[in-house]
Order: sequence, then C-alpha cells, then structure tokens
Amino acid sequence: MTLNDSRILVVGAGLMGAGIAQVAAQAGHAVQLYDSRAGAAEAAKAKLAQTLDGLVAKGRLTADAAAATLARITPVDAPAPAELAIEAIVENLDLKRALFAELEALLPPEAVIATNTSSISVTALARGMQKPERLVGMHFFNPVPLMKLVEVVSGLGTAPEVAQAVFDLATRWGKTAVHARSTPGFIVNRIARPYYAEALMLLQDRAAAPELIDACLRAAGFRMGPCELMDLIGHDTNFAVTNSVFAANFFDRRFTPSLVQQELVDAGFLGRKSGRGFYRYPDGAPALPA
Ligand code: NAI
Repeated sequence: MTLNDSRILVVGAGLMGAGIAQVAAQAGHAVQLYDSRAGAAEAAKAKLAQTLDGLVAKGRLTADAAAATLARITPVDAPAPAELAIEAIVENLDLKRALFAELEALLPPEAVIATNTSSISVTALARGMQKPERLVGMHFFNPVPLMKLVEVVSGLGTAPEVAQAVFDLATRWGKTAVHARSTPGFIVNRIARPYYAEALMLLQDRAAAPELIDACLRAAGFRMGPCELMDLIGHDTNFAVTNSVFAANFFDRRFTPSLVQQELVDAGFLGRKSGRGFYRYPDGAPALPA
C-alpha cells in the first residue's frame, strides 16, 4: 500500500492541523482542510500565506514554491473524499469517535484514517469503527513544519500495512518516523509528562516562578523550559492530555493533573494561541501573579 499520491483531508485547522496541511501541501499533495468552526480553515490558510511570505522574504523558499503550496490547500465547508484523512481535532475520545464514524461513511473503502492524538489510545479510538484496521496514529510535534519526529502509533487492530504506509509517507515528507505501540502517552509524551508535572508542582509550591524554571532548564541544555513549552502546546490541549494519561495509567500519582493547569484553562489563558499563559504574547513578559 502507498499513500504517496493521495489526496489528503485534514480535519481540524488549529495549531496542528494547519501545520500538517502545510507539510502535506509542500510535499505535493492536494489538501482539503476542514474545521467545524466557521472560517477557521480559511483563517489558517491566510496565516500560512503570511508565514510563507516571510520565508520567501528571507530567501528560504522561492515565490513559486510558496504559491504552489498555497494553491494545493483548499479550505472546505464539509469533509471531502480523500485517500488519507488526518484528524487533528480537540483531544476528546467521543468527538474523535464521532468524526471517524462520519469519515467512514464518506471515504473510499481503502482510505486510511490517521489520528494526531497526543495521548488517547488508538485501540480505544478504533472501537466501533467498521474497519478498525484502517485507523493509525500519526503523531506530529509542534510546530509541525520544524519538528522532525512522527510517531506512527499502532493500536491492537491497526493493519501493519496501514502503519507502514503512513511511516513511509512521513519519511517521504522528510520526517523521522518511528513505529510505536499504543500505550499511554506513546513514547515522547510518556517521558515528557513528568517534565511538565514537576514544573507544575514547583509552581504550586511557589518554589520558583515560570521564568526561573525555564531559564534553569534552558541553561541545563534543554531547548525550551517546561512552562514556555506548555504555553506553546496550549493549556487546553495539554490539560486534556494530562487527564488522559493520568486515567490511562490507572491514576498513578506521578501523572496527577495540576490545579495550576486547571486555573489557566478556566481563565482562558491557553498560552501563545490566546495571547496569554505563563507569559504574555507577543512580548513574552511574565503573566502569572507573583
Ligand atoms: P487546537 O485547539 O489548536 O485546534 C483544534 C481544532 O479542531 C480547532 O480549530 C477546532 O475548531 C477544531 N475542531 C474541534 N472539533 C472538531 C470537529 N468535530 N470537526 C472538525 N474540527 C473540529 O488544537 P491542536 O493543538 O491543534 O491539537 C489538535 C490535536 O493534535 C489534539 O488531538 C492534540 O492532542 C494533538 N496534538 C497537539 C500538539 C500540540 O502541541 N498542541 C502536539 C501533538 C499533537
């Protein structure tokens, strides 16, 4: 099985879906971009146009390549048929399952459905599907155009040839693909969770401010500190992932969600995407009360 010439449907035009659409279009695929929020897919395309203009201005992309990439992305008002659908909607099991039911009714019988879930079991997501063997995790990292890794996640029912086709496609897109089993948090998020959790405990204990924690971890060699990284991920998404990994680990206290996260979500301080999280954006000034 090959997906090299597939038409691609990306569902969810948020942080991740927009990046996935860009990478797929840059690789030459015709991409349909759908989001249930009216205007979101068009807005994502307009933002991408600005990003590509910036790359052209810096000499990192030709004007022709930028125009061709944009021309391959079509915002659509409803999911459209494709050989590969990549789902990047909110981190919620029921919503994703409902979407897969809708997609199975629409897509050709041999189409592959890939989920960008960070933490939800691919095995559980496939339950109730007519063809659970066609569902596979295709877990990109943020920001998608820059981050090399893609975890190709197989659930109990995933067909090996489906996982291999997605692995080969990600490799063709210049990514570093790895196969992973669908275990809680897969590989990277399993290890990254305690990185965030310990930072959140330091904050809850009022032991150190976000800017101090981030400065320490950067000086220790990490590319980003945990607080700035959580602001980049989005606290709504990160909190949903924390809850899902906590439950999937049978409520092991190492993965306990934090009140600090809960408060940020309650306040709508979702990080970079809302203009405020631990820091304010675009200037990056500290935003938590002392
Ligand atoms: P986001 O909140 O930026 O975007 C989600 C988009 O999905 C929104 O535009 C929303 O309107 C749309 N949406 C919600 N329900 C929908 C539905 N039923 N049909 C169509 N569109 C719908 O979220 P983000 O960060 O892009 O995350 C999306 C997925 O990617 C989640 O599963 C998340 O866990 C995963 N992910 C997120 C990463 C991150 O750093 N933010 C990294 C890797 C994976």
